[in-house]
Amino acid sequence: MILYLLVILTVLWTVFFKLKRRQMYKLAALIPGPKKELPILGIAHTFLGDAEGTMSSLQYYSYVSMQHGIIRAWLGHILYFIVVDPVDIERALKTFMEKDDLHRFIRKVIGNGGIFAPVSIWRRRRKILTPAFSPKIVEKFVAVFSEQSEKMSEKLAECANGKEFSVWSHLSSYTLDAVCETVMGVKMDAQGKSVSPFLMSMNTLMNVICERIFHLWLQPDCIFKLFPQYKVQKDGIGVLHSFTDDVICKKREELKIEKQSQPEVDKQLDLQDYKTRSFLDMLISLSGGERGYNNVELREEVLTLTVAGTDTSAVAIGNTLKILGKYPKVQEKLYAELIEVFGETKRPLVKEDYAKLKYLDRVVKETLRLFPPVPFIIRKVLKDSKLPSGYVLPAGSGVVVSIWGAHRDPKYWGPDAENFDPDRFLPERFNLANSCSFMPFSNGPRNCLGYQYALMSVKAAVSAIIKNYKVVGLEETSPAPKMRMKLEIMMKAVDGYRIALEKRSSL
Ligand code: HEM
Repeated sequence: MILYLLVILTVLWTVFFKLKRRQMYKLAALIPGPKKELPILGIAHTFLGDAEGTMSSLQYYSYVSMQHGIIRAWLGHILYFIVVDPVDIERALKTFMEKDDLHRFIRKVIGNGGIFAPVSIWRRRRKILTPAFSPKIVEKFVAVFSEQSEKMSEKLAECANGKEFSVWSHLSSYTLDAVCETVMGVKMDAQGKSVSPFLMSMNTLMNVICERIFHLWLQPDCIFKLFPQYKVQKDGIGVLHSFTDDVICKKREELKIEKQSQPEVDKQLDLQDYKTRSFLDMLISLSGGERGYNNVELREEVLTLTVAGTDTSAVAIGNTLKILGKYPKVQEKLYAELIEVFGETKRPLVKEDYAKLKYLDRVVKETLRLFPPVPFIIRKVLKDSKLPSGYVLPAGSGVVVSIWGAHRDPKYWGPDAENFDPDRFLPERFNLANSCSFMPFSNGPRNCLGYQYALMSVKAAVSAIIKNYKVVGLEETSPAPKMRMKLEIMMKAVDGYRIALEKRSSL
């Protein structure tokens, strides 16, 4: 009898659910779907494998979307649209400001920090954070990038014997050290330690979040709690939160003492005064001092910046090194530029160098085009909305903006779109019809606030390494670089960035 009732209730619920969403089904049916779509599952079965399989599937869907302009993809009962056309992307990023529900798994770890927060919270936080990323302030961090990247380069000496090794831990320790110093004002010294609990926890948490996003059975909280990943997540959160809470408490104390000795300090904090200050100092001050952000809000913002700035930049450096290894001529041209700018001296990089390092700029940008660290952005569609292509996206669906696809679309990049050619970014050749054809840092009101910071940090690291070492053993004859990539929130090389280095003779 109970079973009978359960069946009736399930049927009724399904009918009600389908009726409520009939507009969604109607609009979705007008948009082409991929061949691999199955009833009920949609394309969920194509994400059952590992992170490399996930990336391959999403790359495949991006190419299908290039043919049709857009495609629909059901992930079980959840409807997504994969968009690659820059005109549609521009509209989507302006219209759909709310992050997709999948971001709730990241929010569990770092809370409502800028990137992942609902629009209602994000607006105020973005307004507070924006002045802290003004070029004048970001430039002041060059000394940190310079010092930390030289440290990385020195440490790499022990691996520079022509044999392959994974450079990932060097890169992520460098970016974590640079981020922690600029964000929290803390010298983390991950580069000096064999194990950094903070970095390990951050990596583990990102992996757990990614598993939850792509493995539907891990999504409901009540089921997730039964899996070992739940405890791993809880422990990881403990490490990140206690570290940042401690830094914030010490900072509050420090500011209190500073204020007692200089009661005018709040008024004196103008932008120039930030030269020795971290984002944490700025966030406290810009949000209104003692009446501004509370400690939880500060922790959320600090953690967001730390997560946003660490792996993304490390991936960009790793991809650039791999590409340079593949194309020795490009590497030698870059080395020649570095010698021209720095001479044979060991002087550190200063902010004036960036304007002179024009080829480095093109190499980094072309690498970001072919291998964008954040290859997809997912936003939520709150009401039926028409894109410039004429397709209407129904309320309740999600939009996957494929940066990967936009960056490789031959319609906009030419028939050699897959080839590595830094000179595409020469001012006389670079004339995109739409800025969304190149958007490694996203576009629109929720774009990356740290893009100038990131470019400076990445270039400091690449120049410190290439000045001293040659990346060898990866030569490729095809102009279209092949790299096995996986998706773990960021897109990373499957092999953990295995490269071989040889010392330059001038060392
Ligand atoms: C190569 C390195 C980086 C890449 C590729 C990158 C990429 C991105 C992308 C694609 C987004 C936007 C997501 C969306 O539109 O939904 C974003 C947002 C953001 N990024 Fe970056 N990022 C990088 C480095 C950094 C760094 C170093 C920082 C700060 C230290 C940073 C801070 C932020 C912040 C605060 C946001 C949120 C903006 C908002 O929602 O208002 N990023 N980043």
